[in-house]
Amino acid sequence: MNKTFHITTFGCQMNEHDSEILAGMLTNMGYEEVAERKDATVAIINTCSVRDNADKRFFGTLGQLKRRKEDQPDFIVCVCGCMMQQQPIIDTLKTKYPWVDIIFGTHNIHRFPELLNNVLQEKDKEMEIWADGGEIVEGLPAKRLFKSKALVNIMFGCNNFCTYCIVPYTRGRERSRRPEDIVREIQALAVDGVREVMLLGQNVNSYKGVNAGGDKVDFAGLVWLIAEIDGIDRIRFMTSHPKDMSDDLIDAFARCYKLCKNVHLPVQSGSSNILKRMNRHYDRDSYLLLVDKLRKAVPDITISTDIIVGFPGETEEEFQETLDLVAQVRYDSAFTFLYSVRQGTPAADYEDQIPEDVKHERFNRLVELVNSISAEKNAVYDGRIERVLVEGRSKRNSNAFSGRTDGFKLVNFKGEENMVGNFVDVEITEGKTFSLEGRIR
Ligand code: SAH
Ligand code: SF4
Ligand code: F3S
Repeated sequence: MNKTFHITTFGCQMNEHDSEILAGMLTNMGYEEVAERKDATVAIINTCSVRDNADKRFFGTLGQLKRRKEDQPDFIVCVCGCMMQQQPIIDTLKTKYPWVDIIFGTHNIHRFPELLNNVLQEKDKEMEIWADGGEIVEGLPAKRLFKSKALVNIMFGCNNFCTYCIVPYTRGRERSRRPEDIVREIQALAVDGVREVMLLGQNVNSYKGVNAGGDKVDFAGLVWLIAEIDGIDRIRFMTSHPKDMSDDLIDAFARCYKLCKNVHLPVQSGSSNILKRMNRHYDRDSYLLLVDKLRKAVPDITISTDIIVGFPGETEEEFQETLDLVAQVRYDSAFTFLYSVRQGTPAADYEDQIPEDVKHERFNRLVELVNSISAEKNAVYDGRIERVLVEGRSKRNSNAFSGRTDGFKLVNFKGEENMVGNFVDVEITEGKTFSLEGRIR
């Protein structure tokens, strides 16, 4: 039987990196990745539960696979990721989708090869969910999406329990990898041609590493350690919580030239009252002060954010405070979300949930503002020369290539295949709302 696999990923960068690890393990087992699920003998769906629409897409996708599974019993269907850490989902899978072959969670992806072998040998189903993360498993292979840039976990889980968010329940408590393990992984990536690393964690700024000598290493300390690695030119991270943005990290932004001048700083709301009810541990003023501090230290830093519209109890005035904050900060870009009820989180039980039509109406006003600011900010790039790490052919236009600037702006330009994985200087010819157009210098 030919050994091919296909992975569908629904979630965040951490979810994406889990998929890269699954792809690495399958490649080591002699499987080949295929572009379309219909050509695969093993299909994996890596799920996300952060909002309701991710749940819906998962069950939609699963529905599509049922017929094929009936026609081809040897076709193996695996489901994993954050949704599998929720008991009601597991119950639904058992009763309505008993034909799924392998179910595993976020804490035990390293067990996947064994689960797959068991299914192949015993022709039986495998379900294994761990309630919490045990010891961090090191040395897992990963099949990267890009040649020149890599995702690197530095920590797992989240302790913040924002009242709307499911992640602490699906990813468990915070656990930090050892600094040496992270450095060793990135050294190997550099040897393999990686120029840029994206350090991943739900809240990287609360990284608490301990080295072999027993010394504590915080996030800023880790950045400086990684900056010493030859071959790595750019360091980025996702995400840092505003409450934990340390002066040492701001100093690293100013002094460490490898640390990209870009920060994703989710604000969620511009209203101090809502922020309190979200359990965010900062208020409007302290957030604005932090933005000032960052811009003083690094004047051209680009800033992006996440905003939730229609959190329970959000009044029109409180929503206006969000619009007002967006206009003050002038984000380079913002991810905007309609508040989505997540069972098991405190906010799901809050009274005064906002009607859907009100949420949508506010959402549209916010998106319009966010996009007009993005367009204005990008227009300023016209005529500038930007150093771009080339990622590959642009998705929209096969003649064009694309890559990212230091500030994480997406740039499209006419290029050549041999530029992929390398840095090029691009003159920006047009700043659009979501990207920049340019030409090679
Ligand atoms: N750990 C990251 C974010 C992880 S989830 C952080 O704290 O920054 C990514 C984004 O999804 C969040 O920043 C939030 O804006 C959004 N989000 C999380 N739960 C949500 C919910 N229940 N409804 C709508 N958006 C949500
Ligand atoms: Fe969710 Fe808050 Fe943790 Fe981010 S910090 S993952 S929003 S609980
Ligand atoms: Fe989704 Fe899990 Fe990431 S819920 S956003 S895949 S941590």
